[in-house]
Amino acid sequence: MSKPILSQSADLKNCTVVLGTQWGDEGKGKIVDLLAANVDIVARYQGGANAGHTIQLPDGRSFVLHLIPSGIFHEHVACVIGNGVVIDPVALIEEIRMVEREGVRVQGRLFISHNAHLIMPYHKMLDQASEQRMMAKDGSAVGTTGRGIGPAYEDKFARKGIRIVDLLDRESLREKLRRNIDEKNELLEKFYGSHEHCDVEKIIAEYESFDRQIDPYITDTALMLNREIAGGKSLLLEGAQAALLDIDFGTYPFVTSSNPTAGGACTGLGIPPMAIGRVLGVAKAYATRVGNGPFPTELTDETGERIRTVGHEYGATTGRPRRCGWFDAVAVRYTNMINGVSSLALTKLDVLSGLTEVKLCTRYERISTGRAIENFTNDLRQLADIRPIYESFEGWPEDALEGATSREELPRAVQRYLDALEREVTCPLEIISIGAGREETLGVPLEPFEIR
Ligand code: GDP
Ligand code: IMO
Ligand code: MG
Repeated sequence: MSKPILSQSADLKNCTVVLGTQWGDEGKGKIVDLLAANVDIVARYQGGANAGHTIQLPDGRSFVLHLIPSGIFHEHVACVIGNGVVIDPVALIEEIRMVEREGVRVQGRLFISHNAHLIMPYHKMLDQASEQRMMAKDGSAVGTTGRGIGPAYEDKFARKGIRIVDLLDRESLREKLRRNIDEKNELLEKFYGSHEHCDVEKIIAEYESFDRQIDPYITDTALMLNREIAGGKSLLLEGAQAALLDIDFGTYPFVTSSNPTAGGACTGLGIPPMAIGRVLGVAKAYATRVGNGPFPTELTDETGERIRTVGHEYGATTGRPRRCGWFDAVAVRYTNMINGVSSLALTKLDVLSGLTEVKLCTRYERISTGRAIENFTNDLRQLADIRPIYESFEGWPEDALEGATSREELPRAVQRYLDALEREVTCPLEIISIGAGREETLGVPLEPFEIR
């Protein structure tokens, strides 16, 4: 009998999940890049090119990554795209080229699961057609990124999806594609009344060319990761989107089609839960949401506008303006619970500087009955009947955070806000980010990145 790869030893908890605790764009890219300096592997476990993770390098260059894990700018780090990710080869190849042009070595450092599903041209067409139809019908569109994410996961779960491994067998690929394309063309034409349609031969030729280009990166990543875990390597598991966009725990149906929550890291990579020693939640010091759906603390006034302008709150993937609002501790308490968040990285605190007053939502009140609500619900009907109750804080000047190297050095007004936020989310603030750059960070654990 061959030896099991993963030791059952309880101290092999060398994986840290880094995930969004709000509605996405919390600054996961910055935090993963920062922590990647002290790990061996960064692995993406779900989502696809709907993600936009921004990284600012010390020399001022800034990059938005959609599929490549945010550890790629550290030469010693191996980057893995797991089976749970849906891969658009067009976006992937473009991104590989983009980082290579900047002098980053990708070959030998990027590993892609042979089990990952592929986004096909018809997935993007269907995503957009469905959104347009819902918008025209009753305005109920989700506000997706249009990257084909939902339709690709639909095919995966309907057992019709095309996986990376399917590219290896051209005959069966042709057969699977033909069946899919017949079905999608009919759907596009008859249901959506679209004049666009897909051509089997054209798609096969395109995907054969993609296959040649991505072939060097394809491997059995679950096997690779389990070997590395057993060998004592340290891993960051990078979530895309965020817990409130989770298909099960988010504000359904205004969600994405995967599990950004911690459980998704195991199924999206093929690693055991016991290998996860720590879950680092990333939260903005306020809240944003792009796309439709409930947002209890949304500000539609001048303050919301100011936060959007100062925080450059425009989508990294679609360029859409992000809706902005106050920090919602009720929602983050909930996502901390679902994910077992051990500590938080709080980002974009600097964006609140210069406001005369800063607010924190600590609980909700039911509009119809006036009853206080302590726990978040993802039930849309209930969310429509709540209003946020705020604790108010004195603001701090524009330059209050400048030059600070630790939380203790921050002015009293800032500390009062952070103390209250920490108390309300019931988990420690381990990292505080006060700018997009790596160095604009307070409280990063010193080397080596400690696994607890
Ligand atoms: P992600 O999807 O969670 O990786 O986040 P995005 O990259 O979509 O959006 C976060 C934006 O905020 C990016 O433009 C980052 O460069 C920027 N950012 C990250 N942390 C901070 C911070 O502490 N302060 C400021 N001002 N910008 C930040
Ligand atoms: P990162 O990883 C913010 C939102 C879309 C839409 C919903 C469904 O950068 O935080 P989809 O295209 O996934 O079917 O859209 O999810 N959404 C995001 N919002 N950040 C993201 O990724 C997002 N990815 C998807 O706006 O509301
Ligand atoms: Mg983003």
